[in-house]
Amino acid sequence: MASKILAVDDDPQVAKLTVLLLEGLGYEALGLTDPRRALEVVRSFRPEACIIDLNMPFVSGSELLDRIRAESPHTEIILLTGMDDTLVAVDFMKRGAADFLLKPISAEQLDVAVIRALEHRRLVLENTAYKQSLEALVEERSRALNEALRNLGELHEATIETLAQALDMRDQGSGGHSRRVADMTVGIARKLGIRDGQLVQIEQGALLHDIGKLRIPDSILWKPSALTPGEWATMRRHPEYGYDFVSRIGFLQGAADIVLSHHERYDGTGYPRGLKGDEISLGARIFSMVDTADAILYDRPYHRASDFSVARDEILRKAGTHFDPTLVRPTLEHLESCFADPARSQRGAQSTAPADADGGCMAGDKGQ
Ligand SMILES: [Fe+2]
Ligand SMILES: [Fe+2]
Repeated sequence: MASKILAVDDDPQVAKLTVLLLEGLGYEALGLTDPRRALEVVRSFRPEACIIDLNMPFVSGSELLDRIRAESPHTEIILLTGMDDTLVAVDFMKRGAADFLLKPISAEQLDVAVIRALEHRRLVLENTAYKQSLEALVEERSRALNEALRNLGELHEATIETLAQALDMRDQGSGGHSRRVADMTVGIARKLGIRDGQLVQIEQGALLHDIGKLRIPDSILWKPSALTPGEWATMRRHPEYGYDFVSRIGFLQGAADIVLSHHERYDGTGYPRGLKGDEISLGARIFSMVDTADAILYDRPYHRASDFSVARDEILRKAGTHFDPTLVRPTLEHLESCFADPARSQRGAQSTAPADADGGCMAGDKGQ
């Protein structure tokens, strides 16, 4: 199909001649002598290029150049003038004109200018289409990558969750402990201003805190009588065993700290490293209080659940020795909001999950 070219010149002779020359070169050409109608004709005729006279009444070629470029950015403009003014030509080229022809025009000059303008248009369109397809491709790939990352995140989460449940079943004979302590630890950490990645690491560490017990033999883990000193020594290695498991897994490296430090005590009498005060990470300091409270508030194989006041007294008694005294108040406030209501406390003591969903009390509140 022939390319469409519009020629705008207030001189009817020039307009007519330009059209004839263009038709002779094989284009579909239209001539216009009133520049005020140019935009309307551009909209209906949709020319690929316009040849415009620079000096016209009502609308100058310069003004028309801007109007057509605004209306139809991919229509190429060739300016036509009687003046031989290089500076004017350069200015128009800078403003988006494809070429500049001097009157009287010859068929050869017109041919070269139109071919060049149409080639320029083709390249611009091709480039625009390429950019658009590239952008669409990048968008599609980003969406696919985000989807894959989301799936991977969900897979990690589900794997850790299942592992934690399996650990609870072996260690305590019932599920729920790990998820409960993870939720309570996250609830307190969030109130202390911890956010995002650090919060996720604390949650994962709390969920897997006793993973090292996988290496403790059943004969020790389930021994109904008191452990011998040798058996205690074995049992007390579970944080290191756990750290060994977890620190080798890239996405769990942040969680490994709670696994290693969950039996450390504020006064340095804990194990395995005998860390003191702030040497113990904030997550592990919060967690040790929560683990103690959970052991009191829920049934265990060898004791019945007690109510919140017993857990509170135990934490207060050990403030400054086992526990960081500066964290006792926010921890107790949070636990109280979950357990102090007698109805909640009773439900909590009988079930495997705290009774309420607010503020990191309940299993399923992922603490994001
Ligand atoms: Fe432990
Ligand atoms: Fe525990």
